[in-house]
Amino acid sequence: MILPSHRNGSGPALLLVHGFPLHAGMWRHQLDGLAEVRDVLAVDLRGHGTATRDDEAFSMDRFADDIAETLDAEGIESIDLGALSMGGYVAFAFWRRHPERVRSLIFMDTKPEPDGDEAKKGREGAAALVRENGMAALHEGLGPKLLASNPSPESVEALREIILACDPETAALDALAMRDRADSVPTLATITVPTLWVHGVEDALMPLDGARASAAAIAGCVFAEIPDAGHMAPLENPEATNAAIRAHLERVDG
Ligand code: MLT
Repeated sequence: MILPSHRNGSGPALLLVHGFPLHAGMWRHQLDGLAEVRDVLAVDLRGHGTATRDDEAFSMDRFADDIAETLDAEGIESIDLGALSMGGYVAFAFWRRHPERVRSLIFMDTKPEPDGDEAKKGREGAAALVRENGMAALHEGLGPKLLASNPSPESVEALREIILACDPETAALDALAMRDRADSVPTLATITVPTLWVHGVEDALMPLDGARASAAAIAGCVFAEIPDAGHMAPLENPEATNAAIRAHLERVDG
């Protein structure tokens, strides 16, 4: 499936993949802030934002193949790939399936480990919750966990708007696809392109120490701690996030 994208800037392509249950609008500050150095494409994964959905179940591999198909359609050979959380799970799959298209990787507030038994049950609960009660019920529990302890009203509102805009069936299919995702821990050692790991210091879903350990398993990976940010570092602290990404891209460009 060819994915719609928000696009801004010129130069080599930087493709950004959103998290769960979000859409490309989460990258508003990167679309503006990185346009001088890259052709920034923020895609809506299938079913999200303005993207359509067919009858097929979601999977991280399918999301990754959609990105490759989109690059073919746009005539883009290779990308810097930036991805947050569930987007990071997609980025691991993309690296396994289409490594020749990856110039560099930027993991943001994500993790390589698969779900354990309890987390898998939680995914089924989340799918049932949105199917029965809609996105507001999910947002009530999840929204505050995604942001730092003292979030800006702008971040709170932006996140609320994006989550409530998600089609509940899309969110359910995301949850089940995350339940079934592969273990990406063995993938870390296979990464041979320049890599940046960006992580909010207050990420309550994926604590900083685990992220640091994951980044250390990737050869040459640079780790950037983002202050005043939880799980949504690019939205909560765009200045620090964009500065880290710019420095990374300068490294990539030599
Ligand atoms: C996300 O932000 O994409 C999700 O919280 C990831 C997850 O639930 O594993």
